[in-house]
Amino acid sequence: MSPVKRIGVLTGGGDCPGLNPVIRAITRRAILAGCEVLGIKNGWQGLIENAVVTLDLQSVSGILPKGGTILGTSRTNPYIQPEDLRKLLANYRALKLDVLIAVGGEDTLGVAVKLMNEGLKILGVPKTIDNDLSRTDYTFGFDTAVNIAMEAIDRLHTTAESHHRIMVIEVMGRHAGWIATCAGIAGGADVILIPEEPIDTEAVCEVIKKRHARGKDFSIIVVAEGAKFRDGTLVAKEDKRDAFGHVRLGGIGHVLGGLVEERTGFETRVTVLGHIQRGGSPTAFDRILGTRFGVKAVELALAGEVGKMVSLQGNQVMAVPLDEEAVAMKTVDRELYTIAKLFFG
Ligand code: F6P
Repeated sequence: MSPVKRIGVLTGGGDCPGLNPVIRAITRRAILAGCEVLGIKNGWQGLIENAVVTLDLQSVSGILPKGGTILGTSRTNPYIQPEDLRKLLANYRALKLDVLIAVGGEDTLGVAVKLMNEGLKILGVPKTIDNDLSRTDYTFGFDTAVNIAMEAIDRLHTTAESHHRIMVIEVMGRHAGWIATCAGIAGGADVILIPEEPIDTEAVCEVIKKRHARGKDFSIIVVAEGAKFRDGTLVAKEDKRDAFGHVRLGGIGHVLGGLVEERTGFETRVTVLGHIQRGGSPTAFDRILGTRFGVKAVELALAGEVGKMVSLQGNQVMAVPLDEEAVAMKTVDRELYTIAKLFFG
């Protein structure tokens, strides 16, 4: 019998489809093992405020296909205010958790790494639509986002063709262009622009002009919100930074669309997909990956293994150390982007 009796779970950072399957899997696997499960509300904020709910079979019933997270989320960084950290540590001790499972991306898991140094027993589950965490092949949420973006590209194709227009579609992807690259390949985009490669506006216009010269009088350009121009210009909605120092991105699509229309003379329209990519029901892939991650996290807890992150490697769910390296950035695979480029124009 495992000595582990009480498991906590929280979801932090931007939400994504697949969080509820993880919460359900953690709860059901832990209950099977005779454990009690406590859900912490709204990421690290819930641990600061001691906002905790008991999760039982009833509370996770019916949540598998639902987007978002029944626990709520926030981008709270407890390392900004010393008082927040003091409260968080006191509440963690009072809850008498044997282990806390933190489900999050680079910021939430980055906090988890720091808290482990304060003595907290934590396991990590990687999530983000951006798929940019270094120690896992895939994060859940990504597949759903790619499918949503692909469908949007498909829809834009038909109207682009009817009106002989250029369609620019801006997708999410702060530091890495995984969504842009994968949705762009799947949707047959004519140009894909990602944060990893500076935008060369002239080159983009050349590709479009050549395409039009060979009789294709409509084009699709996919641009990740974090893509920068060659002079380093990043387009942000506002300068204000969140608790982790990120600016709110958005707007590159419109800036680029304006330049392309001006330089090619072709009528251009811009679509910003935004949070539609993060909403709604998870794909089967994300439900299954979330379920496998949740089960594995509990099994690690039962085995007394803490300080680990669950990770998909090939088709295996493994445990890797939860440390600075695990939350480091994974940029787009060069080989994949090279394949995407073969279809430009
Ligand atoms: O990290 C996930 C993500 O969706 C990024 O792609 C995007 O830049 C950011 O979150 C948007 O954050 P918010 O929900 O705070 O607008």
